[in-house]
Amino acid sequence: MTSANTPRTLLGGLTPAQFLSQHWQKSPLLIRGALPDFVSPLEPDDLAGLACEEGIEARLVEENGPDKAWQVSHGPFDDETFSRLPTSGWSLLVQAVDHYVPEVAELLEAFDFVPSWRLDDVMVSYAPPGGSVGAHVDQYDVFLLQVSGKRRWQLGGSPGDKASLIPGIDLRILENFSVEAGQEWVLEPGDMLYLPPGVAHHGVSESEDCMTFSIGFRAPSADEVVTSYADYIGEQLGDSQRYGDADLQPPLDVGELDDQAIARVRDLLLSAIDRPEQMAQWFGRAMTQPKYLDQVVPAESATTPEDLRASLERGEQLVRSPGSRFAWRRQDDARATLFVDGDAVVCDPALARYLAAKSLIDADVLAYPDSERVLAALLDSGSLSGIDDEE
Ligand code: SIN
Ligand code: CO
Repeated sequence: MTSANTPRTLLGGLTPAQFLSQHWQKSPLLIRGALPDFVSPLEPDDLAGLACEEGIEARLVEENGPDKAWQVSHGPFDDETFSRLPTSGWSLLVQAVDHYVPEVAELLEAFDFVPSWRLDDVMVSYAPPGGSVGAHVDQYDVFLLQVSGKRRWQLGGSPGDKASLIPGIDLRILENFSVEAGQEWVLEPGDMLYLPPGVAHHGVSESEDCMTFSIGFRAPSADEVVTSYADYIGEQLGDSQRYGDADLQPPLDVGELDDQAIARVRDLLLSAIDRPEQMAQWFGRAMTQPKYLDQVVPAESATTPEDLRASLERGEQLVRSPGSRFAWRRQDDARATLFVDGDAVVCDPALARYLAAKSLIDADVLAYPDSERVLAALLDSGSLSGIDDEE
């Protein structure tokens, strides 16, 4: 891993440590020339092609749509859709392009100053002049990288949860948006804008070829944490662990739920959930859930550890399946949990670390204890692929 104290062009000359302490989740940062040599691995036509494919999440936002203002349509689209569009005032947005275009996935490696399990996806947008998705607020951190053409960005402060939205349209567009002094810039290719959650922003295309990559992060809401952890821990709690009142006193009123009853149920609830290691086991699974569950497809036939070793020794490589997510947690000096796509496997800590960092695996992995068993399981579940494809 690169040093936390080495200045990075990507961060406008800040070190990762400075960026995290001054801006991450706190304040926007405009970075001119963040990726000065980055050449878009896809053209607007390629994006339109992806938006026509079954199973790819794509949206078209039309400011003056055929049926209503700010009309949103969902893909897959076809040539007819694109040929009826006007010369301005619309945006095409394709989610998780990193799952389909390896060069876009490689771009994510530059964001290694944030844990990889915090990354969500790269959304790519294309808009002709005047195209935008309206002024809005996102609930997640985002790096907005201008990849081709120009986009004018305006920021409008942090309006909070109560900000009113334009009623009766398909999008959550702010009813009142005014740009703050000094918070307006035209981004050119290679420029990037970091926004923490909750900042009002409005980005309007200023050219024929405006493409913006949104490198977005995931952060579960309290609601998701509570419901998902409750489901996980609930399965492990036996039926016999129940509300108990061995300390019961004769009630003052037979129908009253008194403070002692509430204190007992509170104790039951808190002791059921306050289990740090189980919480870690749940969190690792939750944060490695693939964005699209159907993208991780189990292998048709099982791989034996012996075949796997032989293939790697022949020089074949394994690749992380697009959309697969890895993270690891140390249990002790000899064991770690490797979380993969919402599941977990116990293995050697050095192996867990290696697999969570590498998207291309070669025979080097065989130096780690028990690596054939772990890799065979990951091939069977569909999180890794390669051997069968190459044979
Ligand atoms: C866009 O790329 O058009 C919108 C990205 C955003 O505002 O989050
Ligand atoms: Co946004």
